[in-house]
Amino acid sequence: MEQLANLRRLGLFDARVPRYTSYPPATAFNTQTGQEFQTQCLKALDPATPVSVYAHIPFCERLCWFCACRTQGTTTLKPVAHYLEIVKQELEHLRATLPEGVQMGQLHWGGGTPTILPADMIRTLAQAIKDVIPPAPDFSFSVEIDPTLVDDSKIAALAEMGMTRASIGIQDFAPDVQAAIGREQSFEDTKACVDSLRRAGITSLNADLVYGLPYQDTVKLADTIEKVRLLDPDRIALFGYAHVPTFSKRQKLIPDASLPGEEARFLLAQQAARAFKTYGYEAIGIDHFGKPDDVLTLASKAGHLRRNFQGYTDDSCPSLIGIGASSISQFAQGYVQNASATAAYIARVEAGVLSGYRGYQMTAQDRLRATAINMLMCDFEIDLDVLGTHADAADLAPIHAGIVADFAGCVIQKGSKITITPEGRPLTRIIAQRYDGFSDIAAQYSQAS
Ligand SMILES: C[S@@+](CC[C@H](N)C(=O)[O-])C[C@H]1O[C@@H](n2cnc3c(N)ncnc32)[C@H](O)[C@@H]1O
Ligand code: SF4
Repeated sequence: MEQLANLRRLGLFDARVPRYTSYPPATAFNTQTGQEFQTQCLKALDPATPVSVYAHIPFCERLCWFCACRTQGTTTLKPVAHYLEIVKQELEHLRATLPEGVQMGQLHWGGGTPTILPADMIRTLAQAIKDVIPPAPDFSFSVEIDPTLVDDSKIAALAEMGMTRASIGIQDFAPDVQAAIGREQSFEDTKACVDSLRRAGITSLNADLVYGLPYQDTVKLADTIEKVRLLDPDRIALFGYAHVPTFSKRQKLIPDASLPGEEARFLLAQQAARAFKTYGYEAIGIDHFGKPDDVLTLASKAGHLRRNFQGYTDDSCPSLIGIGASSISQFAQGYVQNASATAAYIARVEAGVLSGYRGYQMTAQDRLRATAINMLMCDFEIDLDVLGTHADAADLAPIHAGIVADFAGCVIQKGSKITITPEGRPLTRIIAQRYDGFSDIAAQYSQAS
């Protein structure tokens, strides 16, 4: 409780901070940096270095009330089939822009629900991407899977196209929590999905859970964790529920009064972290847990953990090409986001241009701050010697001194290392925000705890 009082004093329950899946955060993007910048960045890619590719499928059969992802509901495959044709056209624009010989190191499908695609569309999309950006020899392919919207034929098609890792959405198994977030999902269906994935040869499985959901309590969470344990995932993502009804309108269906209070929410996260540790998982960054031999756990121990728009990754590709509505590309020069609304994305692609409509061109100062934030989010530590290789690194000296003084006990400096202590880790995003040159737009973010 003393730790809780200290964290409260340091602003854990008041702060509104980005998740720092990028720096600058997407809220700092501007519309002057769009398709022209995207074209320049794509043309400048070095064919000797593989890229990562993200494809966004913005459709779901059901729209869960808690979900803040960019997606739309559909009960027919008609809009999905049309979208697929547009993605194929976007890929042709990419083919015309990319230098000869660029290969794909990693492919990730997210959404929305990629498994809304029937088996034939899965094959068509994967092949269309591979035709334009051929897989590198150590190619890996991960897919977000809704266990209630998948079957053996879809899993077989994904495996045939090279899927190596599956990420399944669970959130919570308690029936009243599921009713309150508009997402019914039985343990039996989830287990059947996991068994089918394993039969198809998928050896790397991630499970998404969420704490801070309506009506969630310690008893229900303990039961969910026991059920997850039976599924035996290699990796678990435990996200804090981001309640942002002004941004995600369907969250208005979740009454504020049903949400656990700030203290209860914090204790739920701690309870889950303790249970995962007991069951042999190691903590990775602020919200992931992995078996000791999982690649993300190994990357974390080796100091190779990175952060991108999907969260934590061991991906070593320096550039990411986003395909589909709202997807974000990341280049050494900066970021570009495709038009967010599906109709706007379609209109741009049909007009014969790449779909980038807003972005951000990085300065040397942004890269310096991004490095400091990435070190904190991935390693809980700033290595001043490494940071010192950036020009103007001395500009951050007052910020280093400020965090060591203001978060005393939670942040300590020894020689050239500034480290967040285990007790201070819940404050990581708040501490990282000190390095954020755009923190004045913080009101748009979710709570830090
Ligand atoms: C694209 S969704 C999952 C894929 C698939 N459609 C499904 O439902 O299983 C990705 C994940 O984001 C997380 N997520 C979505 N909205 C969230 C919110 N408001 N707060 C925290 N996590 C959220 C959930 O854990 C979800 O599984
Ligand atoms: S959680 Fe998955 S299925 Fe539910 S609305 Fe979000 S993306 Fe769609």
